[in-house]
Amino acid sequence: MANILVTGGAGYIGSHTCLELLNAGHEVIVFDNLSNGSGESLRRVEKLANNSLDFVQGDIRCQDELDRVFQNYQIDAVIHFAGLKAVGESQQIPLTYFDHNIAGSIQLFKSMQKAGVFSLVFSSSATVYGELNPSPYQEDMPLSLPNNNYGYTKLVIEQMLEKMALADARWSIALLRYFNPVGAHKSGQIGEDPRGIPNNLMPYVTQVAIGRREKLSIFGHDYPTKDGTCERDFIHVVDLAKAHVLALSNRLNNQGCRAWNIGTGAPISVLQIKETFEKVNGVQIPTEFAERRSGDLPAFYADASRAKNELGWQPQYTLEDMLADSWNWQKHNPNGFS
Ligand code: NAD
Ligand code: UFG
Repeated sequence: MANILVTGGAGYIGSHTCLELLNAGHEVIVFDNLSNGSGESLRRVEKLANNSLDFVQGDIRCQDELDRVFQNYQIDAVIHFAGLKAVGESQQIPLTYFDHNIAGSIQLFKSMQKAGVFSLVFSSSATVYGELNPSPYQEDMPLSLPNNNYGYTKLVIEQMLEKMALADARWSIALLRYFNPVGAHKSGQIGEDPRGIPNNLMPYVTQVAIGRREKLSIFGHDYPTKDGTCERDFIHVVDLAKAHVLALSNRLNNQGCRAWNIGTGAPISVLQIKETFEKVNGVQIPTEFAERRSGDLPAFYADASRAKNELGWQPQYTLEDMLADSWNWQKHNPNGFS
């Protein structure tokens, strides 16, 4: 069992991963500035795991704060979630995104190197495949510039990590390329709690269902897809969290830099999400069709066979589970963690 530093561990995917790490017997140290995470999520993780974790409030852009963590704890590996993730916002304030995501990551990697910690799992995104690759995306496809600044930060960090691993064989790095994470832990105790108006589809749907938003706008219904709405590869956040635990053990025993897609491989349309959510949960989602959202790709989904073959990872949860668990979380926490 290992001591794992989890940056951004108080956020949506981070909190679910902390729970899986504790359940697998690891020691967990969370480092988070709480700009988009919550201390309450960590208290609930501890309760669910019946075990405790350590929390350090800090910012990955601050080298001293990071160095102190590596001095105070004997860290074996890092899972790096911390960063900003709103695609639209990244177009308004690119420098802030470069600062948190790129500069912050560089500080982290420098602190790791100084402390002699070379095992890393990094939160990447399907966005690094850019606009030209056909689906299903495969890990060895050529990457290309994403059409937004958030995606650009993911591509830059991936490329830096590859070059670091080439230059120094001590690095062992997993690039996990997430598709569209949704759902929540079965308990309904932890889940996605975006600040302000949700950018992503699933929290928007659940906030309409709970009455916090009037109606869902479906962005575009004339795409070249089966029903005209965009198609995505939705993945249950608990399956995603488990992929981190597997990637971590793989990295603790291997060298180099390796990418894995984490998706189900099944394209699901936005309309299908709305209709299945209504059916599974017995709630209506008032909906209108709206203009296409700038920058959206019509469809993308994963070839997840590499994660299956090399990590022994396979998604366990169905689309119905994802939608039931998202609703279960929102229903029991109408205002999120507050
Ligand atoms: P989240 O916002 O819920 O979690 C990110 C956490 O990082 C938050 O708790 C926030 O407080 C913290 N944080 C942000 N900037 C920080 C900084 N400078 N220093 C310290 N802590 C900081 O987001 P999430 O959905 O859990 O995403 C986690 C990671 O996965 C992110 O890197 C994101 O880009 C990536 N990702 C997310 C998705 C998605 O759809 N949710 C898809 C692909 C990749
Ligand atoms: N959508 C709506 N209405 C909404 C919100 C979203 O119709 O209110 C649609 C979008 O137009 C898109 C689909 O639902 O067709 C999914 O949108 P999300 O914003 O939930 O997710 P994206 O696929 O746009 O973005 C995700 C991740 C990003 C990542 C990107 C590309 O959130 O981190 O995939 O990989 F960069």
